[in-house]
Amino acid sequence: MNSGHLAFFLSIFATTQALDNGLALTPPMGWMHWQRFRCLIDCDIYPDECVSENLFRVMADHLASDGYLEAGYEYIMIDDCWASKERTSEGKLQPDPIRFPSGLKNLSDYVHGKGLKFGIYGDYGTLTCGGYPGSKDYLEIDANTFAEWGVDYLKLDGCYSDYHTIEGGYIKMGKYLNATGRPIVYSCSWPAYQEPEGLKSNYSLLSEVCNLWRNWDDIEDSWYNVTEILQWFADNQDRISQFSGPGHWNDPDMLIIGNYGLSFEQSKAQMAIWAVMAAPLIMSVDLRTIDQKAKDILLNKDVIAVNQDPLGIMGRLVLTKERIDIWTKPVLPKIDDSYSYAIGFLSHRVDGYPRRINFTLSELGINSSKQYTLKDLFEPENEQKIVTTKKLVFIRVKPTGGVLLLATPEDNSIKNQKR
Ligand code: GLA
Repeated sequence: MNSGHLAFFLSIFATTQALDNGLALTPPMGWMHWQRFRCLIDCDIYPDECVSENLFRVMADHLASDGYLEAGYEYIMIDDCWASKERTSEGKLQPDPIRFPSGLKNLSDYVHGKGLKFGIYGDYGTLTCGGYPGSKDYLEIDANTFAEWGVDYLKLDGCYSDYHTIEGGYIKMGKYLNATGRPIVYSCSWPAYQEPEGLKSNYSLLSEVCNLWRNWDDIEDSWYNVTEILQWFADNQDRISQFSGPGHWNDPDMLIIGNYGLSFEQSKAQMAIWAVMAAPLIMSVDLRTIDQKAKDILLNKDVIAVNQDPLGIMGRLVLTKERIDIWTKPVLPKIDDSYSYAIGFLSHRVDGYPRRINFTLSELGINSSKQYTLKDLFEPENEQKIVTTKKLVFIRVKPTGGVLLLATPEDNSIKNQKR
């Protein structure tokens, strides 16, 4: 086969395969502008906050220098409202010339120069949700443009499209992305348009076509939204959780930690349960002004390790006791047949004092003859050793707060060797 034939064969091959890009083997981590900066485009009034290349450069600087990249937050992602309302004469998307005067290839080079990866937003329909040009009828040309710009992550939204027949376009876009030869994480949104209308999305297809997908409504900056979203995930966990895993993830939407809506305790709760759900950890916060306590939550290495556990199992709500939800997720290390478990608590209580509850591991569905050590990942000094999975454990959860425990089985073989 000469090189021309080979290239032809490879291009056919690439365009007929389902997504198998080897990306997102653990839940993607990064920063996205939407929740904090929305469609703020008036740079005269808000020069430091408007959606512009300056904002992304500054946030890239902070991501790279303030410990976030080191902790795993590697993608910096532009959400909606970046584009010019007009395509170029060749039909290509282009950024708003006033707000992105250097162009997106230049911005992407800047981001890559910091050791970060570059993400962008598009929409499968005729317009984006914010009213900018959509990719309908331009899927291939847009996939190629994104690749030319050095895009590493595409969030493809679904506004202004027919949600009954939306899958076909997403599949096509996945193929065009693959055909560019550039590894691009592919975030789909079609369930977020179907599920709220009472339709059941095809999760088996999603896990073949997309690296992650938004299942449900947008998060807003409030505890109410966090708990509403979690309620939907809990109600639907039997249907959706098995489709999450290395390379393909359910996405309950951005972390709102560090903004205006969550208390310190509520922030720990969001982080704890997002970690247990193996949710993408996408911050959306002003990294210039975030306070240290919120930053510490976002950078907690042990909590991130739960989220990034290589098994990639999506945790589940297993018990609600005295209005405190308990979610569990099997993680490594596995000793003989016994997994370790992350155990996340989220309290719906508002009665003003840290409520003490008791439970046994066995009550949470954890059955093993091993002894477990329990570490409180936000307050590691509270380590407890318990004898069996039948022993009562007591913990305190603050009002509308969260706790994350890691239960690790004892390795008797190591102990015996030491003796
Ligand atoms: C939709 C998405 C949001 C955000 C906006 C942008 O609402 O769900 O996450 O991308 O569009 O307009």
